[in-house]
Amino acid sequence: MPLTLASRIYVAGHHGLVGSAIVRALQRQGHTGLVLRTHHELDLTNQAEVRRFFDSERPEAVILAAARVGGIHANNSRPALFIRDNLLIQDNVIDASHRSGVGKFVFLGSSCVYPKLSPQPIKEEYLLTGPLEPTNEWYAIAKIAGLKMCQAYRREFGFNAISLMPTNLYGPGDNFDLQNSHVLPALIRRFHEAKVRGAKSVTVWGTGTPRREFLHVDDLADAVLYLLHSYDAEPMVNIGWGQDVTIRELAELVLSAIGYSGRLIFDSTKPDGTPRKLLDVSRLSDLGWQPRIPLKSGIEQTYAWFKEHSDDARL
Ligand SMILES: NC(=O)c1ccc[n+]([C@@H]2O[C@H](COP(=O)([O-])OP(=O)(O)OC[C@H]3O[C@@H](n4cnc5c(N)ncnc54)[C@H](OP(=O)(O)O)[C@@H]3O)[C@@H](O)[C@H]2O)c1
Repeated sequence: MPLTLASRIYVAGHHGLVGSAIVRALQRQGHTGLVLRTHHELDLTNQAEVRRFFDSERPEAVILAAARVGGIHANNSRPALFIRDNLLIQDNVIDASHRSGVGKFVFLGSSCVYPKLSPQPIKEEYLLTGPLEPTNEWYAIAKIAGLKMCQAYRREFGFNAISLMPTNLYGPGDNFDLQNSHVLPALIRRFHEAKVRGAKSVTVWGTGTPRREFLHVDDLADAVLYLLHSYDAEPMVNIGWGQDVTIRELAELVLSAIGYSGRLIFDSTKPDGTPRKLLDVSRLSDLGWQPRIPLKSGIEQTYAWFKEHSDDARL
């Protein structure tokens, strides 16, 4: 049955970067049947709690944006936690959704599911064609299991699950905790603090030459809702901006958004990571969706949010 503005849609992880953007987008569209639970109210690693929740709430559609997420340091130092929590969350939520008759399920993976040395840009069919990036393979293996579980449930039970693979995301609600954050929020926080301290320079790890792709989370939310309503097939879909920038270009955009005039130093004794990571977004373009928020204005808007939320941002 097609979804209506009154349909009961459960957004799991609605306090996170992605989940909060999806809720904003659903509310903008006029959806009134949102079903939401915080981590504190419902621990998705607990199978009995998850089954009880689905039995009582009976959502018609589910968007799974809850996951244990973090940067290289967090992934590397807590491998057991990352693989355990993500496997449990997705296993519990996918299975309970199928059992309770959910009509549409959206699984969110990540570009880290692709082999470390994938040809660029990365097409969906490169999945499982080579070794993963070792620093986040725990997370990536869990995500691969999740998207395969969606495909398996579709084949065996006709469960209408789709899997979307977003590139690096950023925007309001991001995690600015330096131990756990991704590169863009970490740069915003570090450069902002350097400006406030009046530091003469800031140091960025690596040579600044690796290339990365970034998508504003409001664009991602728009793509998720577009595919929620229009895409019902097994093949997973990359979601990205379609172009990348060097880490140096990224750092310069952040410097300019913050208005910090100190020197930018690249510490080339520190590791660079993969030289390039860009998703091929032809499948998404062929389905009729395009992103709208350019990186420069997206970073400016995220910095404005960060300053306004110094009390409640994740620091
Ligand atoms: N951020 C990116 O750049 C990016 C890129 C590609 C894909 N994605 C995908 O998008 C999804 C969401 O990522 P995000 O960046 O929005 O992460 P996030 O900001 O850390 O949000 C994740 C949410 O999940 C919740 N959660 C974690 N464990 C839970 C549990 N056991 N039970 C219930 N809720 C739990 C968290 O609540 P607490 O904070 O209270 O624990 C948080 O609200 C993930 O699947 C991720 O792979 C993200």
